[in-house]
Amino acid sequence: MSVKQSFIELPLDLDQQRIPRHVAVIMDGNGRWAKSRGFPRIIGHQKGVDALKNLLRCCDDWGIEVLTAYAFSTENWGRPSHEVEFLMTLFERVLRKELAEMMAENVKIRFVGDLSALPTSLQAEIAYSMEKTANNKGIQFNIATNYGSRQEIIHACKSIASQVQQGKMELEDIDEKLFENHLYTEGLISPDLLIRTSGEMRLSNFLLWQMAYAEIYVTPTLWPDFNREEFHQALLNYQQRDRRFGKLSKT
Ligand code: FPP
Repeated sequence: MSVKQSFIELPLDLDQQRIPRHVAVIMDGNGRWAKSRGFPRIIGHQKGVDALKNLLRCCDDWGIEVLTAYAFSTENWGRPSHEVEFLMTLFERVLRKELAEMMAENVKIRFVGDLSALPTSLQAEIAYSMEKTANNKGIQFNIATNYGSRQEIIHACKSIASQVQQGKMELEDIDEKLFENHLYTEGLISPDLLIRTSGEMRLSNFLLWQMAYAEIYVTPTLWPDFNREEFHQALLNYQQRDRRFGKLSKT
């Protein structure tokens, strides 16, 4: 048995049989983290990358199959232009710098969102990273960039309507499965657990369709401080939930 299959690092108080398959994360609080230390906001984003890398490694160690991180929303374009530019450059730099390690760790990268609006150099880096890691069999790492759930749903509706209009599909063919196949997350399992840092109790237009039955965990910790122990606490909390999916409890 390989080290990965035995998940030797899983804390003893976590049940290996009840580890979520897909964890989604809203990485909130970078700006406040920086401000509280007298740094510019961008330092918080830089620190946020380290927290994300640590979470990815932890998910991989503990047997989580999919991690999806909300890196940039369709609404984030409304931030000051220097911050938007910083983030775009940061994404590009991190992708370039981390690709070799992602390959070594067998990570499969996917970007979800409307990528066509991103700077062309970032689009090229994204395409390269997805192509390079396409056959990797380890953890699936999704980065939601220029992502907005409402926009995604409209995009799916238009794509389906166009197929009906062209006679390629009947109205009766439309069901949940078909609809999901027109979302950016096509082929991915739905998140079991959403973690949001910095205490905000909102979904912020993130994976609204996909999160129908996700368990939500909100921590006051700011994203750059979110570490392995925090994640451990989130999983302990998740494992205490009774996931009924609208049915009655078995007990
Ligand atoms: C929210 O905190 C954070 C973001 C909008 C950016 C998150 C991006 C990263 C952590 C970088 C990830 C990098 C890659 C390559 C995926 P905020 O700025 O809204 O903080 P505030 O609420 O305290 O202002």
